[in-house]
Amino acid sequence: MSTQLLVVDDLHTTFRTAAGLVAAVGGVSFDLATNETVGIVGESGSGKTVLARTIMGLQPRSNVEVRGSVLLDGHQVVGASEREMRERWATDVSMVFQDPMTSLNPVMRIGRQIDETLRVRLGMDKRAARARAIELLAMVGMPSAEHRYRAYPTQLSGGMRQRVVIATALACSPKLLIADEPTTGLDVTIQAQILNLLDDLKEQLHMSVILITHDLGVVATRTSRIIVMYAGRIVEMGATRDVFFRHRMPYTRALLESSPKVSNPSHTRLRVIPGRPPNLSTLTSGCAFAPRCSSASERCHQERPSLEPAEEPGHVFACWHPLAATELHEAPR
Ligand SMILES: Nc1ncnc2c1ncn2[C@@H]1O[C@H](COP(=O)(O)OP(=O)(O)O)[C@@H](O)[C@H]1O
Ligand code: SF4
Ligand SMILES: [Mg+2]
Repeated sequence: MSTQLLVVDDLHTTFRTAAGLVAAVGGVSFDLATNETVGIVGESGSGKTVLARTIMGLQPRSNVEVRGSVLLDGHQVVGASEREMRERWATDVSMVFQDPMTSLNPVMRIGRQIDETLRVRLGMDKRAARARAIELLAMVGMPSAEHRYRAYPTQLSGGMRQRVVIATALACSPKLLIADEPTTGLDVTIQAQILNLLDDLKEQLHMSVILITHDLGVVATRTSRIIVMYAGRIVEMGATRDVFFRHRMPYTRALLESSPKVSNPSHTRLRVIPGRPPNLSTLTSGCAFAPRCSSASERCHQERPSLEPAEEPGHVFACWHPLAATELHEAPR
C-alpha cells in the first residue's frame, strides 16, 4: 500500500485578472508521505500561498482556473465542490495562516471558536466540546487554559493567538497540516517556541506537515525535504541536506545567501537577491530567474529548463548551467 498521503501532479492555478492571466502555480508536482514534513521556500510572490490554498481546495471559484491533480489520501481535490471539501477540512487537511487574526473571529471568545469546530465537525455536545477545547488549549501551551478559554483574541499576544489558531486547526486531528508562514511577524524566541510546538504536535498526532516559509533557517532542522519555488514553479527539490549543501540551481544559492544564519538569526547582515521577482502575468518562455541570474546565457532567456535529476536520489533541479555538485560543508552566506 502506498504511504503517500498527498500526490500533486502537474498542478496549475491561473487567475483571470484585469491585467491578464496570472499563472500563480505553473505545473507543480510533488508528493508527501504520511508523517513527513516538507518545507516549501521561495521569495514573496512565488506562489506558495496559492499552492497551499489550491491543495486545500480553497480558491475562489470565479476568477480562477485550476488544472492538474491533487490526490489527498486517495481523494481528488481538484474539481471537488466546496460542499465536498467542507467535509474534509479539519479532518483531512487544515491550514494555519500567517496572520492569526485572519483565522480568528475578533468578537468571539477563543474557546467557542474551537468548540464550534468540534461540534460541527465531530458532532460533540456542548460539554464534551468545551472540555476538549480546554484540553487542546493546554496542548498548545496556553497557560491557564481553562481561564483563557473565555478570552477574546484581542486580549492575547500574537504568539498566543497563533497557538489558538493551531489548536483550532488540530481540533479534529487532520492527516495533513499546512502551516503557511506560521511564525512570520513574531519575535525570534516566540517563533522558535511555535515551531517546536508544531514539531511536537506532529509527533503526537502522526500528521504530515507542509511548512511554508520565505526563510530557509526555519526549515533547516525541521523538514526531511525542501521544495524551492520560483515564479509559481518548483526549481529545486530534494532532501533537506542536499538542498542546503549540494544545491545546483543558482536561485537556491541566492536564497541561502539571503537567509539569516540558522545559528544566529538576528545578527547577520543579509545579502539581498538583486532584482525583483518576476511579474507572473508577463512571463516569457525562458528561465524565469534569467533576468536576475549571473550565470544566465542566451539559452536561459529562450528556453525554460525542466526539472532534471541530480545524483542524489529524489534531488531534482531546473537549470541549464547548474552549480558544480561539490559537497559543501556549510551552507553559503
Ligand atoms: N486572488 C488572486 N487574484 C489574482 N492574483 C493573485 C490572487 N492571489 C494571488 N495572486 C497572485 O499570485 C502570485 C503568487 O502569490 P502568493 O501565492 O501569495 O505568493 P507567496 O505566498 O509565495 O508570497 C502573486 O503574483 C499574487 O499577486
Ligand atoms: S537556467 Fe540559466 S538563468 Fe536559470 S538559473 Fe540556470 S543559469 Fe540561471
Ligand atoms: Mg504567502
